[in-house]
Amino acid sequence: MRKKIIAGNWKMNKTLDEAAVLATEIRSHVMHSGHAHLVTILAPPFPYISELAHHCADTSGLELAAQNCHTETQGAFTGEVSAQMISSCGASFVLVGHSERRLYFQEDAEILRKKINQAYACGLTPIYCIGETWEQRSTGKHFETVAQQLRESLFHLTPDFFASHLLPILAYEPVWAIGTGNTATTEQAQEMHAFIRQELQQNWNTDLANACSILYGGSCNASNASDLFACQDIDGGLIGGASLKATDFQHIRQAMLEVLA
Ligand code: PGA
Repeated sequence: MRKKIIAGNWKMNKTLDEAAVLATEIRSHVMHSGHAHLVTILAPPFPYISELAHHCADTSGLELAAQNCHTETQGAFTGEVSAQMISSCGASFVLVGHSERRLYFQEDAEILRKKINQAYACGLTPIYCIGETWEQRSTGKHFETVAQQLRESLFHLTPDFFASHLLPILAYEPVWAIGTGNTATTEQAQEMHAFIRQELQQNWNTDLANACSILYGGSCNASNASDLFACQDIDGGLIGGASLKATDFQHIRQAMLEVLA
């Protein structure tokens, strides 16, 4: 059975003290309601990773992610953070290709391919974010867009590579649903997740496609999580706004625990 994953993308929010309180509350929920098939991932801002790694240490089923990494390991890139640094601070995952990175920081397919390579080279597992804009969906280009994002930044990795590396986590995040309150319907989300899995099967193989966790992101919250997580190809959520309050995030985790029960 593939892993179910509930990940919180805190974006550029919280002070260190607030982040520590939130992580402590979530840790306690994870400790009291763990499940062998459920992994909870927190993606705090860079400066908090090391501190939160101490908070989360030795908590089975709780992991940390960075929200971004640079394409190079080290060097004269003032203000940047490398995958190696992230790994040395205690995170195991890194978001790559979030739509805010693509849009506001001009991260294109080639940059994202390098970031995925760099993450793996430094022992991090990428959480690769893909998804179409409203314009692309309304002109019928949503499948083509997502297929291209997979092809250009992920499918250079072959099944052989995954004999010695963990599979990436994929996050389908329709851009029009992020932070807007307009969640994709369960039909739209399931349809795209099934399409992504089919692409994985065609470019890799059936076993890898079936083992890859595909998360939904985009205004996922405590009221719609149960319906989304009940879909066959939706293996969890990448949660933005609703991950900033412990009770909301816990309700979303609970929704997944009920699916697993
Ligand atoms: P949202 O963000 O849940 O606030 O829509 C999701 C994301 O950006 O990952």
